[in-house]
Amino acid sequence: MAAKEKKLDPSRLPRHVAIILDGNGRWARRRMLPRVVGHREGVNRVREIVRAAGEIGIGYLTLYTFSAENWDRPQEEVAHLMQMLERLLEDELEELDKNNVRFEVIGRITQLPSKVQEGIKRMQEHLSSNSGLVLVLALNYGGRQEIVDMATRIAEEAKIGRINPADINEDTLRIFQYRPDLPYPDLLIRTGAEKRISNFLLWQAAYSELYFTDLMWPDFKRREFVKALEDFAQRERRFGKVRE
Ligand code: IPE
Ligand code: IPE
Ligand code: MG
Repeated sequence: MAAKEKKLDPSRLPRHVAIILDGNGRWARRRMLPRVVGHREGVNRVREIVRAAGEIGIGYLTLYTFSAENWDRPQEEVAHLMQMLERLLEDELEELDKNNVRFEVIGRITQLPSKVQEGIKRMQEHLSSNSGLVLVLALNYGGRQEIVDMATRIAEEAKIGRINPADINEDTLRIFQYRPDLPYPDLLIRTGAEKRISNFLLWQAAYSELYFTDLMWPDFKRREFVKALEDFAQRERRFGKVRE
């Protein structure tokens, strides 16, 4: 852990941090490098931020790694990202295990290349008995798609009489999310200077605190992450109520 880092008040830490890690391509372009170099440097930040989150005592870290819309990028970029993902799932296994990390995924996983699916399964099984940070990768994820998938499954259950439409409430919907056991994100960070949600956790982020930074993801180092946590610690969350 960085020696000079100020101690964060554990009672003011978010339990779940979700990050839209954006800006790899622009980071590379500014250096006259191909976009894939930006993605590669982005992986180094993923490693750094996952470690930091665990050390700081964050419970859940969700990373928007590949959106349902990212398939529409040039084919070589998509292929490259899938290859990197496959490699990452293999190479990081030991380090994550050493750091007591558990592993989850959200998204339409069955549409991912089979090698990636195998890597996910291996990582989940291998890390299943750990008890530290829960790392969640959003892969082929879209918030609208998740809501569509929820609606489909609820309709199926209603059709066979296991759900009464009159009884459907927010808790019912919650059960049909990709990972119903995950708490909703308290803090949602987006790097890369854009101020939008880009189809991330639409339902779950209803009351998340938002943090935007102009830094490109490859420049988002541990101290920047800590800055976001310090900013969060100052926020007053009201959830529609009036302050005490
Ligand atoms: C984020 O960086 C990584 C992924 C979406 C996979 P981008 O690739 O979107 O980088 P920019 O936004 O083009 O700079
Ligand atoms: C959001 O970034 C998706 C991920 C970080 C995986 P994008 O780069 O795809 O988002 P837009 O296109 O700028 O909205
Ligand atoms: Mg982008």
